[in-house]
Amino acid sequence: MRTPIIAGNWKMYKTVAEATALVEALLPQLQPLNSVQRVLCPPFTALATVARLVQGSGIGAGAQNMSWEKEGAFTGEISPLMIKELAQYVIIGHSERRQFFGETDETVNRKVHAALAYGLTPIVAVGENLAQNEAGETVAFVSGQVRRGLAGLTPQQAQGLIVAYEPIWAIGTGRAATGDDANRIIGRAVRDTLAEMFGRAVADAIRIQYGGSVKPGNIAEFVAQPEIDGALVGGASLKADDFAAIVRQTAEAKRKA
Ligand code: PGA
Repeated sequence: MRTPIIAGNWKMYKTVAEATALVEALLPQLQPLNSVQRVLCPPFTALATVARLVQGSGIGAGAQNMSWEKEGAFTGEISPLMIKELAQYVIIGHSERRQFFGETDETVNRKVHAALAYGLTPIVAVGENLAQNEAGETVAFVSGQVRRGLAGLTPQQAQGLIVAYEPIWAIGTGRAATGDDANRIIGRAVRDTLAEMFGRAVADAIRIQYGGSVKPGNIAEFVAQPEIDGALVGGASLKADDFAAIVRQTAEAKRKA
């Protein structure tokens, strides 16, 4: 039985003051829901504040990106060593980073190796665009992203990571995938690929999230699916009541399962 994990990807939203207010509103609602792993991923500028506020609450903190280098003359970059002081998780290869900041499966792979080397849990994001989806290329494309992004890991390393399947056409659009479609793609493109790479037992232990327009009104449909172990939530993670409702329904679904 995989523990469900709900992570909030705040993207480039929330000043330190706003982040503080959001965490203060979230804490009393999220803290009792400890059958679900809860992770907040604020922008770098708010990471230290959020990490301090959630300390001892059972809620984790994560970064949204990082360099694969430990330190050096890399202006504007943040290293795994620096994140490790504050957080336990790091989102790697989000589609917005691939789309706007030139990230590739190769850079994703370097970052995944670096995150694991520093004891961070990577949340590795994969997903097809609308054209690929409509052309019926989803399984082949997503499987390739998994294969290249996670190349060279040992089964033991792979066991600790998290994969987020986020169809690009569903991100921020209000048009989520259906639970059935997400379950099918996650099973065939992600979990089966993980099984080919690392063995079935390891693949069965890896948590795989769905992401893309997740909200309180549709989370139940996703977490009821056998292959889906939680969600990576963007827009709805910026509102305390919505994010808490998503975690609450995930806990409820787990209780019924
Ligand atoms: P969304 O974003 O929930 O706003 O669609 C999800 C994500 O980009 O991780």
